[in-house]
Amino acid sequence: MSEKPRRVGLLGLGAHVPERVMENAEWSEWVDTSDEWIRERTGIERRRVIADDESTIDLALPAARRALADAGLEAGEVDEIVVATDTPEVYLPDTAAILQHRLGAGEVPSYDLGASGCAGFLQALSVARSRVLDPDAAPGENNGRRILVVGVEALTRLMDWTDRSTCVLFGDAAGAAVVGVLGDDGGGQILAATSGTDGSKADILGLETGGTRRPFSLEAAETGAQHDIVMNGREVFREAVRRMSDASRRVLETAGCTVEDVALVVPHQANLRIINAVAAKLGVETERVYVNVQEYGNTGSASVPLALWEARQKGRIAAGDLVLLTAFGAGFHWAATLLRY
Ligand code: ACO
Repeated sequence: MSEKPRRVGLLGLGAHVPERVMENAEWSEWVDTSDEWIRERTGIERRRVIADDESTIDLALPAARRALADAGLEAGEVDEIVVATDTPEVYLPDTAAILQHRLGAGEVPSYDLGASGCAGFLQALSVARSRVLDPDAAPGENNGRRILVVGVEALTRLMDWTDRSTCVLFGDAAGAAVVGVLGDDGGGQILAATSGTDGSKADILGLETGGTRRPFSLEAAETGAQHDIVMNGREVFREAVRRMSDASRRVLETAGCTVEDVALVVPHQANLRIINAVAAKLGVETERVYVNVQEYGNTGSASVPLALWEARQKGRIAAGDLVLLTAFGAGFHWAATLLRY
C-alpha cells in the first residue's frame, strides 16, 4: 500500500514589533518632507522603531517564541533555524547562531539568508519546505524536520536618517513561522512556491560600504557611507509590480489554481501603490488584499510574516482559504508561495 503524501506547511506563526511608534510628522524634524507626501506616495502613516538599547535579536527572539508557542513546540523540538535579514545582529557569526543560543534550541543547523532583501522570508520558507522532507535530514521517526524560519529587520538602524528618499519608507519588525509536517487537515499547507533572481539589477537597490569592494573605513565613518542605501525608486517600483504579479501567476499555475480561488493575497508591504498595482494586474479586488503598510512601513523580510500573522489574528483567514504570499526586494529577488488553510 502506498503511503499518503505528507502535507508540509506552517505549524505556527508569530511576530513582534518594537514599542516606539514614529508618526510621519516626526520625519519633518529630520528631513524636508511631510505627512501628506509620505501618505500620498507610499500609504505609510507610521512605523515602529527599535529603542537605542535594542538590536535585531530583541525582535527575532519574541517573534520566534510566539511562533513556537503557536505550534505547541518547545525550543528544544526545533530541528533547524533559518533567519532572513539585511540587518544582522553582528557582522560575524550570523543572527541564526545567536538566535539558536538565546532561544535555548538544541545544537541544530542554523543559518542566515543574509542580505536577501524583502523577498528573504519567502525564499527561506521555500528552502525550509524542501528541507522538512529531506530523507537524510529527517529525524528518527521520519516525521520530518521542524524548521523555524524568521524574517527580521532593524532597518531604521541601517538607513540614513538624513536621506528623505529612503528614510521615510522603512520600519523595524520580526515575523516567524515553524514549518513542518501538518496533521490530516487544517494548517497552512504550502501548495507551491516559486522564487527568482536578477542580479543585473544589484546596483539599483543596495548598500556597498562594509563589503570587500568598499570596506568600512575612517572616511566612510566620517561621511556616514555605511548608511548610504542606493535606490532608484521608480525602477524598483516597476520591477516590484512586474515580478510580484508574474511570480503570483506562476505559483497559482503550478498548484492548478486560478486567482478567483484565492481568498486573501498577502503581499510584501513596501508601498500601497505597489500593492494596488499588483492587485490590479492580477485582477484581485482590494477586499481580498491584506494591507498593513500604513502601520509599519516597509519592514523588509519581516513584512510578509508580520502581515500573515496579523491577518490570521484578525480573523481574515478561515479554514479552507487559499492564501497567496508574494514579495520582491533587493537583488533583485522575488518569490511567491501559495498556502491552503
Ligand atoms: N518627502 C518629500 N519629497 C520627496 C521625498 C520625501 N520623503 N522623497 C523624494 N521626494 C521628492 C523627490 O526629490 C522628487 O522631487 P523632484 O520632482 O523635485 O525631483 C519628488 O519627490 C518625486 O520623486 P519620485 O521619486 O518621482 O516619487 P515617486 O512617486 O516615484 O515615489 C517612492 C517615490 C515612494 C520611493 C516610490 O518610487 C517607491 O515607493 N518606489 C519603491 C521603492 C521601495 O519600495 N523601496 C524599498 C525597498 S525594495 C521593496 O521593498 C520593494
